[in-house]
Amino acid sequence: MENYKNPAIARAMQSVQAAIPRAEADFSRPVYHFRPPAQWMNDPNGPICHNGYYHLFYQHNPYGDGWGHTHWGHARSKDLVYWEHLPIALWPSEEKGEEHCFSGCTVINGKGQPMIFYTSIGPKRRAYDSAQQWAALGEPDLIRWEKHPANPILTERLHGKVKIYDWRDPFIFRKQDRTFMVLGGKLEKERGGDAVVLLYEAENEELTCWKYQGILFRHPDKKLRSIECPNFFKLGDRWVLMLSPYGPVQYFVGTFDLKSLKFEPESEGLVDYSANFYATNVLFDQKGRCILFGWVRGFEKGRGWNGCLSFPRVLSISSDGQLVQKPLPEIEKIRGAHSRTSDIFLANTSHVLKDVGGGELEIMAEFEKVEAKAFGLRLHHPGGNGITVACKNGMLEVAGRIFPLRLLDKQMVRFHILLDRSVLEVYINESEVITTTVYLAPGNLDMEIFANKGRAKVKALEVWKIKPIWSKQGKMLAEQQ
Ligand code: FRU
Repeated sequence: MENYKNPAIARAMQSVQAAIPRAEADFSRPVYHFRPPAQWMNDPNGPICHNGYYHLFYQHNPYGDGWGHTHWGHARSKDLVYWEHLPIALWPSEEKGEEHCFSGCTVINGKGQPMIFYTSIGPKRRAYDSAQQWAALGEPDLIRWEKHPANPILTERLHGKVKIYDWRDPFIFRKQDRTFMVLGGKLEKERGGDAVVLLYEAENEELTCWKYQGILFRHPDKKLRSIECPNFFKLGDRWVLMLSPYGPVQYFVGTFDLKSLKFEPESEGLVDYSANFYATNVLFDQKGRCILFGWVRGFEKGRGWNGCLSFPRVLSISSDGQLVQKPLPEIEKIRGAHSRTSDIFLANTSHVLKDVGGGELEIMAEFEKVEAKAFGLRLHHPGGNGITVACKNGMLEVAGRIFPLRLLDKQMVRFHILLDRSVLEVYINESEVITTTVYLAPGNLDMEIFANKGRAKVKALEVWKIKPIWSKQGKMLAEQQ
């Protein structure tokens, strides 16, 4: 690490390194979800597939386990399952009046140069009323980055007399040799601010000149505080706009006309019913799959770490315009001991599986012919407290919270559950997802599957123990350089 030339990065990484023992000592820290070596993370930034690696960047505070000093952490992977931590990619350039490097994206420009676009915040350029969009240029392996000499790349001047507040989080997409960017923000200064997604188009191959193309989307909820982290991309033959509105992440599916640059939403929904999942980003992999990442937030403070990513999800669109989400099938690679039970008939009864494992599990439970008013499963320590995932009177209960799901078809309900210490992701029928934080003590769990007030058949119940993706003291590549 000493031979890492940039002192701002060397200092930041020393701070992360020093926090590793404390983070590692905490049992609640996830073991198969992506997270930094230690300290704080929030949004996934600029996922990109480049030269045989998936690269992932993220909002990172190397100096503490709360939000602040936003840098861009960096990791790469060959398979989206196992990750290798890399040196911090972006740091606030204090000498340039920069205080934070907010969220953004990564692209290869028309000259073959790797570029990061992000929102630059300085003490005199506050996040709320005068952000700028900056770029950095990367080496071919995407490890070392320098701030672009042409910064700032996009300023408020582009909008003429229109004032945009909370203007941030560049996301780039390409269509027919044209390169576009979307940014989030709001038109009104106050809360309840007429939230919008703004569209820009690149005017040169270097991506240093941009034209404002107007408002792509105006949020129908006029009380919305603002829009953060917009993602706009083509999925199958539809266009998807995903946005983070200071609450559960929303999506809109529709058409986008390249001539008029109009987006016409036709259907909408929630990407995840819980606000513990936030600030999404997407990646198209070599197989053309659209992979979604979100920040999992809401962990207890003061543990030397805080924040991780949701397990990657593969996205598609159903014929009625709803988002279909599945955990990345490569989860297979980390599946350990497995048990399968089929055709369990329940009628005001429960079926118990002893010792299914500790806090790292994948569970699939397929209920059919459900007449019961309440059915689902409960994980608990023998005789102790636990967590329940169950449908009750048409609502879903997840670890004590109730969610009004839309697509619950009582005849067939498939729970696909990922538990990773303090992270719980529940997929229902591969379309509706709830991510939340949970706290379970160490020790083996029993699982009880039940149906109350009526009958239900469990067609199949599968449980896997999941293996960690991180080695102890996961070395940062910087140390080896
Ligand atoms: C979303 C967000 C972004 C911003 C970043 C700052 O969580 O507020 O809008 O760029 O976090 O860390």
